[in-house]
Amino acid sequence: MPLVTVKELLKAAEDGNYAVGAFNCNNMEIIQAIVQAAEEENSPVIVQASQGAIKYAGLEYITALTKLAAEQTKVPVALHLDHGTSFEQVVKCIRHGFTSVMIDGSAYPLSENIGLTNKVIEVARAIGVSVEAELGKIGGTEDDITVDEKEAAFTDPQEAREFVDATGVDALAVAIGTAHGIYKGEPRLDFERLKKITSLIDIPIVLHGSSGVPDEAIKQAISLGVRKVNIDTNLREAFVKKTRQVLEEKPREIDPRKILGPARDAMKEVIREKIRLFGSSGKA
Ligand code: G3H
Ligand code: ZN
Repeated sequence: MPLVTVKELLKAAEDGNYAVGAFNCNNMEIIQAIVQAAEEENSPVIVQASQGAIKYAGLEYITALTKLAAEQTKVPVALHLDHGTSFEQVVKCIRHGFTSVMIDGSAYPLSENIGLTNKVIEVARAIGVSVEAELGKIGGTEDDITVDEKEAAFTDPQEAREFVDATGVDALAVAIGTAHGIYKGEPRLDFERLKKITSLIDIPIVLHGSSGVPDEAIKQAISLGVRKVNIDTNLREAFVKKTRQVLEEKPREIDPRKILGPARDAMKEVIREKIRLFGSSGKA
C-alpha cells in the first residue's frame, strides 16, 4: 500500500494502547529487514532516516526504496525524517515523499524551538505530512548530532504543555532519562515525569534512545502513553555482529550477498522482537 503518515499510525496506537516501532535505516538491507519484520508480525511500522543516513545513501534512494517496500506489502509503512535540524532539509524530504518529519529544535531556547516547529508545521500541514518535535535534550550521539551528558536536560512538563499549546504538533519527543547510542550503565527512566507530561498534554509521546532500555521499562513507558519507540543502535549491533561472525567463520568469503543476507536476517529478528515488545503485532 502507499506510504501512510506517522500521525495516523500513532492515532491507532493511542486507541489500542500500544506503540509503533520507528527503526533507522541506512541502506536497502535495513529497509528490507524493517518492512519484512513488520509484515511477518502483521504490524504497522515506521522507517526513519536521519540526516546522516540521507547524506550516506541519498535522499532519492531512501525514498524510492522505502516507497517500493511499502507498495509491496499489506502492512502500513510510514517514512519519517529523524532529527531533522534544518528547515531546508525538512522541505526537501517532504518534496521527495516523506510522510512525516521530525524537526529537532531542542538545541534552541523554547521560543525559538516553537518558532522553528511552527514554520515546519505550516508547510507540512498544507500537504498532510505529520510533524514530530523535541523538547528537552536527549544525551548521546545520533549520527551527526551529539549532546554531551552534562548538557542533556529532562523535559519540563509545564514547558511541554506550553510547547504543544503553541504549536499543535502531532507528536512530541521527550527527555526522561534515555540517551542515544550504547549505555554505560542501565538507564533509569523518570516515570513520574512521564506521567506528569502525559497528564498535561494530549498528543502521542515519542521515546528516543530506546536501544538498551530494559524491556520492562519500555513496557511501562508504553503503559504511560509512549506511542512511538525509536530504535537504531540495536540494529547496528545486530548487523555488525552477524557480519563479523560470517567473516570469522568464512574469512575468504567475497560474495557480499552471503555477508549482507545473514546480517539482514539478524536485524529482522531483532525488529520482530521489538515489535512484539511494543504490542503492535497483529495491529496492521
Ligand atoms: O532517533 C533515533 C533513536 O532515538 C535511536 O536511538 O540508537 O539509542 O536506539 P538508539
Ligand atoms: Zn533520537
